[in-house]
Amino acid sequence: MLRLALPTDPRWAHAAQMDISEILTDHAWCEQKAASAAISLMVQYPEFPELVSQMAALAREEMEHFQRVHQCILDRGLSLGRERKDPYVHALISFQIKQGSKEHRLRDKLLMAALIEARSCERFRLLSEEIADPSLAGFYRELMASEAGHYTLFISLARDLTGREATDVRWRAWLNYEAGQIQKFQSGKGMHA
Ligand SMILES: [Fe+2]
Ligand SMILES: [Fe+2]
Repeated sequence: MLRLALPTDPRWAHAAQMDISEILTDHAWCEQKAASAAISLMVQYPEFPELVSQMAALAREEMEHFQRVHQCILDRGLSLGRERKDPYVHALISFQIKQGSKEHRLRDKLLMAALIEARSCERFRLLSEEIADPSLAGFYRELMASEAGHYTLFISLARDLTGREATDVRWRAWLNYEAGQIQKFQSGKGMHA
């Protein structure tokens, strides 16, 4: 199911948890971007009622994650830093097809979202195993399960759109591309880069 082409170097979580303030700020903005991306899909594709319903629910859930990460920041006497650019997500966007049918373009957006959820899920697991603070470790374990659910949601929306077989062929191309990108950003201490 959730099988990325290249697992994260386990040293990433060790490096990331050395600076909790930085990882929490980066993470908070990842949640905000996930909510914004869900809203954009609703706005761009109002003719797909299932997509609109699911994205409306997802945007709420991702904003709730943002709120909870923000609370973690405040509880630790830290403050939310400015929004971070995410070069990893930027690199993924460049792999999306620009031509083709509306369904195929939407499918690429859904598969990209599925990949980001899958990678986030993997990294939350690593953080949950590495972080000494038990309440933060538990929070990351909970988020790991939630992102796994989002990954499944995006894959099934994509399959509903263009069929299982054709979707899975494109998914494998995305997996390979993502592996090359994550490798480039492997030394970064943020959620993705
Ligand atoms: Fe989330
Ligand atoms: Fe998510």
